[in-house]
Amino acid sequence: MQYRNSLEYAKEQDKLDEISYLRNQFHIPKGKNGKDWLYFTGNSLGLQPKSTQKYIQQELDDWANFGVEGHLEAKNPWLNYHELLTDKMAKIVGAKPVEVVVMNTLTTNLHLLMVSFYQPTKTKYKIVIESDAFPSDRYAVQSQLKFHGFSEEDVIEWKPRKGEDLLRMEDLESIISEHGDEIALLLIGGVNYYTGQFLDIKKIAEIGHSKQCVVGIDLAHGAGNIQPNLHDSGVDFAAWCTYKYLNSGPGSLAGLFVHEKHAKNKDLPRFSGWWNHNKATRFNMRQPFDVMEGAEGWQLSNPPILSMAAIKASLDLFDEVGMERLRIKSEKLTGYFEFLINEIDSINIKIITPKNPKERGCQISIQVKNADKNLHKKLTENNIITDWREPDVIRCAPVPLYNSFEDVYQMVSILKELLNK
Ligand SMILES: Cc1ncc(COP(=O)(O)O)c(C=O)c1O
Repeated sequence: MQYRNSLEYAKEQDKLDEISYLRNQFHIPKGKNGKDWLYFTGNSLGLQPKSTQKYIQQELDDWANFGVEGHLEAKNPWLNYHELLTDKMAKIVGAKPVEVVVMNTLTTNLHLLMVSFYQPTKTKYKIVIESDAFPSDRYAVQSQLKFHGFSEEDVIEWKPRKGEDLLRMEDLESIISEHGDEIALLLIGGVNYYTGQFLDIKKIAEIGHSKQCVVGIDLAHGAGNIQPNLHDSGVDFAAWCTYKYLNSGPGSLAGLFVHEKHAKNKDLPRFSGWWNHNKATRFNMRQPFDVMEGAEGWQLSNPPILSMAAIKASLDLFDEVGMERLRIKSEKLTGYFEFLINEIDSINIKIITPKNPKERGCQISIQVKNADKNLHKKLTENNIITDWREPDVIRCAPVPLYNSFEDVYQMVSILKELLNK
């Protein structure tokens, strides 16, 4: 047996890992046998940082002690609480602070962004999505089409070629060169939720813009996982949730990015509420409406502080470690996972995620021929939490913040045993 395929090797990698100490800053759930779960679903719901409770408790205490005065008197005054998140969130997605705000939830933000950036005309109205787009994105664009008097059929799908699993950029180029004059918007998942493919966002922006199409990116599976460099990419807008790699709790608030080139455009159509009105005069409660510049100009409501406190706890951790160090570990950890899976001697198993580390984040999607959800059930019985997608794919995300090389080794050993039974 190769040394690399051994528990000793995995343990040695954990010792060499400069950021292995971070695992201890998370609550790792335990199975019935009292052992830590081998948790591989940070791509679905990230684990809870131990500090989160303290951050939320601070706001509960301030609410108890100050009531409404907490808007100004709380340790972190609630009135501008969202500003405490902006710089750190902007760093994670590679944006300027003026381009980012935390608000609402992901699908809501996609709709608000489409209100502004999906402006169809009689001839240019179609929307491009990936054929494997997350259902919520598909439903969102279909409902936008219908809202504007078009049909669900006006969605154009960017598909993998027959017999392939991944998207090719040249196929998007063909779609845009053939149909670009009819296309108003591209809404693409930056990291595909199913295959884990990390697409070249900058290239997508170039292709879309070459025919005056607006380009929006769903970064649900990208934020806190890969470095999308949103500002440099030139995409018009993006949105992402914070409950996956950003570990901010179930259903927590979402991020929104609007490129700086649109920051001062007050003529963009948009929905409004008191929270995108100029902060300096908001409480005068008077006309006329005066929209804020930048991403803050898409807010509607005063935000839920308890959820923001959980986001702040997580972003402080990200800020301490930095995306660069996380990516370095992530490439090693996912590379190790891939190596071990490839060592399994079975023709029934195939990784559909790209081989090139630059074209993926931490998620590896494994297709297991002739398997059904029973395999997923058996993994769970063995303390391994993964994510099953019909018909035959197990999605696993070794997350560099809290997964270890030993987790990866143990997981693949058990998978191998189950497959050989
Ligand atoms: C790619 C993608 N888009 C949209 C959603 C929907 O998110 P929400 O329920 O926060 O609107 C998800 C949720 O997992 C997702 O993964």
